Amino acid sequence: MKRKLERFAEMATFNHVIQPALEDILNKDYYLKNNWQSKFFQNTNPIIIELGCGKGEYTVGLAELYPEKNFIGVDIKGSRIWKGAKTALNKSLKNVGFLRTRIEFIKSFFGADEIDGIWLTFPDPQLKKNRKRLTSSRYLNLYRSFISGNGNIQLKTDNKELYKYTLKLALYNKFEIKSYTDNLYGSEGNEEAKLFQTHYETRFLKEGIKIKYICFKLNNQEVKELPNEE
Ligand SMILES: C[S@@+](CC[C@H](N)C(=O)[O-])C[C@H]1O[C@@H](n2cnc3c(N)ncnc32)[C@H](O)[C@@H]1O
Repeated sequence: MKRKLERFAEMATFNHVIQPALEDILNKDYYLKNNWQSKFFQNTNPIIIELGCGKGEYTVGLAELYPEKNFIGVDIKGSRIWKGAKTALNKSLKNVGFLRTRIEFIKSFFGADEIDGIWLTFPDPQLKKNRKRLTSSRYLNLYRSFISGNGNIQLKTDNKELYKYTLKLALYNKFEIKSYTDNLYGSEGNEEAKLFQTHYETRFLKEGIKIKYICFKLNNQEVKELPNEE
């Protein structure tokens, strides 16, 4: 507990970690919306986000690999974000930010075409409530409001049901499906998706669970939920 409090106190001093108060985002836009490039990163580079980033392995790993792009890890858990934020600081990465918020509020943070790609790394599968899944129509319609036309949505998951559901939803909505596999490491290609293993992924791999991956692009239609899955 003491260590957690120390980490929270340290994180409050990090300029690259945004922890907005509820009153600054509830039913209103956060001041960085449409301004991440100019006011936060101070460059004009594309921005990729990782939703439910946990310790931010993708955010930090990709930022190191692609200094010409910006990366933002989003999660609600401060202790997890601290780890990624600390690593980014130790590596002196200037193209990394972390946003501590619930993903339900994501529209308050990003404006039209502001985001060039989304990684969903091992989200909770939410098998009981479809609308809570980060790949449900409800969430995809939120992402639609800010992802650019060329932006990929990439899901890595251990969960067969979430993988199948996402694939079915993508087919149903006629999204451009760029790649999919139920055995990422046992198949060719998708090299970027193999580059980093997140905290949860490492656990799943140790248990012998195959990693599933899908990469797709939304189209200009509103996303419809699968029939009988509302
Ligand atoms: C299973 S963990 C995966 C973490 C990390 N991506 C990994 O692969 O190790 C799911 C993460 O999503 C975050 N999360 C779940 N629901 C969320 C929500 N509604 N808003 C923000 N973060 C959420 C949790 O705090 C947790 O860190």
